[in-house]
Amino acid sequence: MTRLILLTSGKGGVGKTTLTSNLAAALSDLGENVIAMDANLTTPNLGLQLGMHLVPRTLHDVLRGDTRLRDAIYPHPYGFKVIPASIGLNDLKGVDVGRLPEVSFNLLGKADYVIMDSAAGLGREALSALSASDEIMIVTNPDLPSVTDALKMLKLAQESRIKVIGTVVNRIKGNEHELSTGEIKDLLGISIIAEIPEDVNVAKSIAEKKPLIQYSPDSPAAVEIKRLATFLTGRKYKKPELTKTESLLQRIIRWLIR
Ligand SMILES: Nc1ncnc2c1ncn2[C@@H]1O[C@H](COP(=O)(O)OP(=O)(O)OP(=O)(O)O)[C@@H](O)[C@H]1O
Ligand SMILES: [Mg+2]
Repeated sequence: MTRLILLTSGKGGVGKTTLTSNLAAALSDLGENVIAMDANLTTPNLGLQLGMHLVPRTLHDVLRGDTRLRDAIYPHPYGFKVIPASIGLNDLKGVDVGRLPEVSFNLLGKADYVIMDSAAGLGREALSALSASDEIMIVTNPDLPSVTDALKMLKLAQESRIKVIGTVVNRIKGNEHELSTGEIKDLLGISIIAEIPEDVNVAKSIAEKKPLIQYSPDSPAAVEIKRLATFLTGRKYKKPELTKTESLLQRIIRWLIR
Protein backbone atom coordinates (compact mmCIF):
# COMPACT_ATOMS: atom_id res chain seq x y z
CA MET A 1 0.00 0.00 0.00
CA THR A 2 1.36 3.41 -0.93
CA ARG A 3 1.65 5.97 1.84
CA LEU A 4 1.16 9.57 0.68
CA ILE A 5 3.05 11.63 3.26
CA LEU A 6 3.30 15.43 3.13
CA LEU A 7 5.95 17.43 4.92
CA THR A 8 4.29 20.67 5.80
CA SER A 9 4.75 23.68 8.07
CA GLY A 10 3.19 27.06 8.54
CA LYS A 11 6.30 29.18 8.45
CA GLY A 12 8.74 28.92 5.56
CA GLY A 13 12.37 27.92 5.71
CA VAL A 14 12.03 25.41 8.54
CA GLY A 15 13.56 22.46 6.64
CA LYS A 16 10.75 20.73 4.69
CA THR A 17 12.69 20.34 1.45
CA THR A 18 15.81 19.13 3.23
CA LEU A 19 13.77 16.58 5.12
CA THR A 20 11.91 15.45 1.98
CA SER A 21 15.08 14.58 0.09
CA ASN A 22 16.71 12.97 3.12
CA LEU A 23 13.72 10.95 4.24
CA ALA A 24 13.42 9.66 0.67
CA ALA A 25 17.10 8.66 0.79
CA ALA A 26 16.85 7.11 4.26
CA LEU A 27 13.71 5.12 3.40
CA SER A 28 15.40 3.99 0.21
CA ASP A 29 18.32 2.74 2.31
CA LEU A 30 15.83 0.65 4.25
CA GLY A 31 14.81 -1.06 1.01
CA GLU A 32 11.59 0.92 0.49
CA ASN A 33 10.43 2.04 -2.93
CA VAL A 34 10.16 5.83 -2.62
CA ILE A 35 9.06 8.74 -4.78
CA ALA A 36 9.92 12.28 -3.60
CA MET A 37 7.60 14.86 -5.15
CA ASP A 38 8.02 18.62 -5.18
CA ALA A 39 4.54 19.87 -4.39
CA ASN A 40 5.91 23.39 -3.91
CA LEU A 41 5.05 24.84 -7.32
CA THR A 42 5.79 28.55 -6.84
CA THR A 43 9.15 28.28 -5.05
CA PRO A 44 10.35 24.74 -5.76
CA ASN A 45 13.69 23.66 -4.32
CA LEU A 46 13.66 19.87 -4.23
CA GLY A 47 15.12 19.46 -7.74
CA LEU A 48 17.74 22.12 -6.95
CA GLN A 49 18.77 20.41 -3.71
CA LEU A 50 19.18 17.13 -5.58
CA GLY A 51 20.79 18.52 -8.73
CA MET A 52 17.72 17.49 -10.75
CA HIS A 53 16.34 20.89 -11.71
CA LEU A 54 17.30 20.82 -15.39
CA VAL A 55 15.10 17.91 -16.39
CA PRO A 56 13.07 18.05 -19.60
CA ARG A 57 9.64 17.39 -18.06
CA THR A 58 8.42 18.49 -14.66
CA LEU A 59 5.36 18.40 -12.43
CA HIS A 60 4.34 21.73 -13.97
CA ASP A 61 4.04 20.03 -17.38
CA VAL A 62 1.96 17.27 -15.82
CA LEU A 63 -0.39 19.75 -14.11
CA ARG A 64 -0.73 21.70 -17.34
CA GLY A 65 -1.71 18.47 -19.07
CA ASP A 66 1.29 18.57 -21.44
CA THR A 67 3.10 15.49 -20.09
CA ARG A 68 2.21 12.08 -18.75
CA LEU A 69 3.02 11.66 -15.06
CA ARG A 70 5.30 8.70 -15.70
CA ASP A 71 7.47 10.84 -17.97
CA ALA A 72 8.16 13.30 -15.13
CA ILE A 73 9.46 10.66 -12.70
CA TYR A 74 13.27 10.46 -12.62
CA PRO A 75 15.59 8.03 -10.85
CA HIS A 76 18.01 9.55 -8.35
CA PRO A 77 21.42 7.82 -8.18
CA TYR A 78 20.79 7.03 -4.50
CA GLY A 79 17.89 4.74 -5.35
CA PHE A 80 14.71 6.73 -4.87
CA LYS A 81 12.68 8.51 -7.58
CA VAL A 82 11.98 12.21 -7.91
CA ILE A 83 9.21 14.28 -9.47
CA PRO A 84 10.78 17.72 -9.73
CA ALA A 85 8.86 20.95 -10.25
CA SER A 86 10.08 23.58 -12.69
CA ILE A 87 12.18 26.46 -11.38
CA GLY A 88 11.20 28.64 -14.37
CA LEU A 89 8.75 31.46 -13.62
CA ASN A 90 7.10 31.12 -17.02
CA ASP A 91 6.20 27.53 -16.26
CA LEU A 92 3.65 28.72 -13.71
CA LYS A 93 1.39 29.87 -16.53
CA GLY A 94 -1.56 27.60 -17.11
CA VAL A 95 -0.79 25.40 -14.12
CA ASP A 96 -3.71 24.39 -11.93
CA VAL A 97 -2.35 23.77 -8.42
CA GLY A 98 -5.74 22.36 -7.50
CA ARG A 99 -4.85 19.24 -9.49
CA LEU A 100 -2.17 18.08 -7.02
CA PRO A 101 -4.50 15.48 -5.43
CA GLU A 102 -5.17 13.99 -8.86
CA VAL A 103 -1.42 13.57 -9.35
CA SER A 104 -0.72 12.01 -5.97
CA PHE A 105 -3.63 9.61 -6.21
CA ASN A 106 -2.27 8.51 -9.60
CA LEU A 107 0.91 7.50 -7.76
CA LEU A 108 -0.97 5.00 -5.61
CA GLY A 109 0.45 1.55 -6.23
CA LYS A 110 3.62 2.94 -7.82
CA ALA A 111 5.73 3.14 -4.64
CA ASP A 112 5.72 2.23 -0.97
CA TYR A 113 6.10 5.88 0.00
CA VAL A 114 5.38 9.15 -1.78
CA ILE A 115 7.07 11.89 0.24
CA MET A 116 5.76 15.30 -0.76
CA ASP A 117 7.39 18.65 -0.10
CA SER A 118 4.83 21.39 0.54
CA ALA A 119 4.97 25.13 -0.03
CA ALA A 120 4.99 27.13 3.18
CA GLY A 121 1.99 29.10 4.39
CA LEU A 122 -1.70 28.39 4.31
CA GLY A 123 -2.39 29.49 0.73
CA ARG A 124 -4.13 27.54 -2.03
CA GLU A 125 -0.94 25.73 -3.03
CA ALA A 126 -0.22 24.44 0.49
CA LEU A 127 -3.87 23.47 0.97
CA SER A 128 -3.93 21.62 -2.34
CA ALA A 129 -0.83 19.69 -1.21
CA LEU A 130 -2.63 18.92 2.04
CA SER A 131 -5.58 17.46 0.11
CA ALA A 132 -3.11 15.43 -1.96
CA SER A 133 -1.87 13.59 1.13
CA ASP A 134 -3.20 10.93 3.49
CA GLU A 135 -0.75 11.69 6.28
CA ILE A 136 1.33 14.68 7.31
CA MET A 137 4.37 15.49 9.36
CA ILE A 138 4.54 19.02 10.72
CA VAL A 139 8.02 20.52 10.47
CA THR A 140 8.96 23.34 12.81
CA ASN A 141 11.97 25.07 14.28
CA PRO A 142 12.19 25.52 18.04
CA ASP A 143 10.93 29.10 18.06
CA LEU A 144 7.56 30.67 18.75
CA PRO A 145 6.81 32.03 15.23
CA SER A 146 7.43 28.59 13.63
CA VAL A 147 5.37 26.78 16.24
CA THR A 148 2.50 29.30 16.08
CA ASP A 149 2.29 28.92 12.31
CA ALA A 150 2.63 25.15 12.61
CA LEU A 151 -0.40 25.16 14.90
CA LYS A 152 -2.53 26.80 12.20
CA MET A 153 -1.54 24.16 9.64
CA LEU A 154 -2.17 21.45 12.20
CA LYS A 155 -5.71 22.72 12.85
CA LEU A 156 -6.45 22.77 9.11
CA ALA A 157 -5.18 19.20 8.75
CA GLN A 158 -7.21 18.03 11.71
CA GLU A 159 -10.34 19.71 10.32
CA SER A 160 -9.71 17.87 7.04
CA ARG A 161 -9.34 14.62 9.02
CA ILE A 162 -5.86 13.99 7.61
CA LYS A 163 -3.74 11.71 9.77
CA VAL A 164 -1.05 13.65 11.63
CA ILE A 165 2.01 11.46 12.20
CA GLY A 166 3.67 14.00 14.49
CA THR A 167 6.01 16.97 14.71
CA VAL A 168 9.59 17.11 13.50
CA VAL A 169 11.58 19.75 15.36
CA ASN A 170 14.45 20.80 13.12
CA ARG A 171 17.54 22.94 13.68
CA ILE A 172 17.83 22.43 17.42
CA LYS A 173 20.85 24.40 18.64
CA GLY A 174 20.33 23.86 22.35
CA ASN A 175 20.26 27.59 23.04
CA GLU A 176 18.71 28.89 26.22
CA HIS A 177 16.08 30.93 24.39
CA GLU A 178 14.87 28.02 22.22
CA LEU A 179 11.56 26.36 22.94
CA SER A 180 12.12 22.92 24.43
CA THR A 181 10.58 19.89 22.74
CA GLY A 182 8.35 19.52 25.82
CA GLU A 183 7.02 23.05 25.31
CA ILE A 184 6.47 22.43 21.59
CA LYS A 185 4.60 19.22 22.36
CA ASP A 186 2.37 21.09 24.83
CA LEU A 187 1.71 23.93 22.39
CA LEU A 188 0.84 21.66 19.46
CA GLY A 189 -0.70 18.83 21.40
CA ILE A 190 0.83 16.11 19.21
CA SER A 191 3.88 13.93 19.68
CA ILE A 192 7.40 14.89 18.66
CA ILE A 193 8.68 12.21 16.30
CA ALA A 194 12.14 13.63 15.59
CA GLU A 195 14.55 16.15 17.09
CA ILE A 196 16.99 17.13 14.38
CA PRO A 197 20.00 19.16 15.51
CA GLU A 198 21.49 22.14 13.76
CA ASP A 199 24.15 20.60 11.56
CA VAL A 200 26.64 22.44 9.36
CA ASN A 201 26.76 19.42 7.05
CA VAL A 202 23.22 20.19 5.84
CA ALA A 203 24.31 23.34 4.01
CA LYS A 204 27.41 21.54 2.70
CA SER A 205 25.31 18.66 1.32
CA ILE A 206 22.94 21.12 -0.39
CA ALA A 207 25.92 22.87 -1.97
CA GLU A 208 27.07 19.45 -3.24
CA LYS A 209 23.49 18.73 -4.45
CA LYS A 210 23.43 15.47 -2.56
CA PRO A 211 21.17 14.21 0.24
CA LEU A 212 22.88 14.62 3.62
CA ILE A 213 22.31 10.88 4.17
CA GLN A 214 24.63 10.27 1.21
CA TYR A 215 27.05 13.17 1.73
CA SER A 216 27.63 12.72 5.46
CA PRO A 217 25.80 9.60 6.69
CA ASP A 218 27.17 9.77 10.24
CA SER A 219 26.49 13.45 10.81
CA PRO A 220 24.12 14.21 13.71
CA ALA A 221 21.21 15.38 11.53
CA ALA A 222 21.58 12.39 9.17
CA VAL A 223 21.50 9.93 12.08
CA GLU A 224 18.27 11.46 13.44
CA ILE A 225 16.64 11.46 9.99
CA LYS A 226 17.55 7.77 9.59
CA ARG A 227 15.96 7.11 12.96
CA LEU A 228 12.81 8.93 11.79
CA ALA A 229 12.71 6.87 8.58
CA THR A 230 12.96 3.66 10.61
CA PHE A 231 10.17 4.87 12.90
CA LEU A 232 7.97 5.51 9.84
CA THR A 233 8.40 1.94 8.67
CA GLY A 234 7.46 0.64 12.12
CA ARG A 235 10.80 -1.17 12.45
CA LYS A 236 13.11 -1.06 15.40
CA TYR A 237 15.96 1.40 15.07
CA LYS A 238 19.46 0.00 15.47
CA LYS A 239 22.13 2.56 16.29
CA PRO A 240 24.49 2.73 13.31
CA GLU A 241 27.94 1.24 13.51
CA LEU A 242 30.53 3.92 13.33
CA THR A 243 31.74 3.97 9.76
CA LYS A 244 34.19 6.82 9.46
CA THR A 245 35.59 6.75 12.95
CA GLU A 246 36.65 3.65 14.85
CA SER A 247 33.94 1.68 16.59
CA LEU A 248 34.22 1.23 20.36
CA LEU A 249 35.10 -2.45 19.90
CA GLN A 250 37.88 -1.58 17.44
CA ARG A 251 39.22 0.92 19.93
CA ILE A 252 39.19 -1.67 22.76
CA ILE A 253 40.94 -4.27 20.56
CA ARG A 254 43.57 -1.75 19.56
CA TRP A 255 44.08 -0.85 23.23
CA LEU A 256 44.43 -4.57 24.19
CA ILE A 257 46.99 -5.36 21.52
CA ARG A 258 49.00 -2.17 21.81
N1 LIG B 1 19.21 20.55 10.56
C1 LIG B 1 19.69 21.60 9.90
N2 LIG B 1 20.88 22.17 10.25
C2 LIG B 1 21.36 23.25 9.61
N3 LIG B 1 20.74 23.84 8.58
C3 LIG B 1 19.56 23.35 8.18
C4 LIG B 1 18.97 22.21 8.81
N4 LIG B 1 17.80 21.93 8.18
C5 LIG B 1 17.67 22.86 7.20
N5 LIG B 1 18.71 23.72 7.21
C6 LIG B 1 18.92 24.89 6.33
O1 LIG B 1 17.74 25.66 6.38
C7 LIG B 1 17.47 26.26 5.13
C8 LIG B 1 16.02 26.03 4.78
O2 LIG B 1 15.82 24.64 4.57
P1 LIG B 1 14.72 24.14 3.55
O3 LIG B 1 14.87 24.80 2.22
O4 LIG B 1 14.74 22.67 3.60
O5 LIG B 1 13.39 24.70 4.26
P2 LIG B 1 11.90 24.73 3.70
O6 LIG B 1 11.00 24.56 4.85
O7 LIG B 1 11.76 23.77 2.59
O8 LIG B 1 11.80 26.21 3.12
P3 LIG B 1 10.60 26.80 2.21
O9 LIG B 1 9.44 27.00 3.13
O10 LIG B 1 11.17 28.10 1.72
O11 LIG B 1 10.32 25.83 1.13
C9 LIG B 1 18.45 25.65 4.14
O12 LIG B 1 19.38 26.61 3.81
C10 LIG B 1 19.13 24.50 4.88
O13 LIG B 1 20.49 24.44 4.59
MG1 LIG C 1 11.15 24.09 0.61
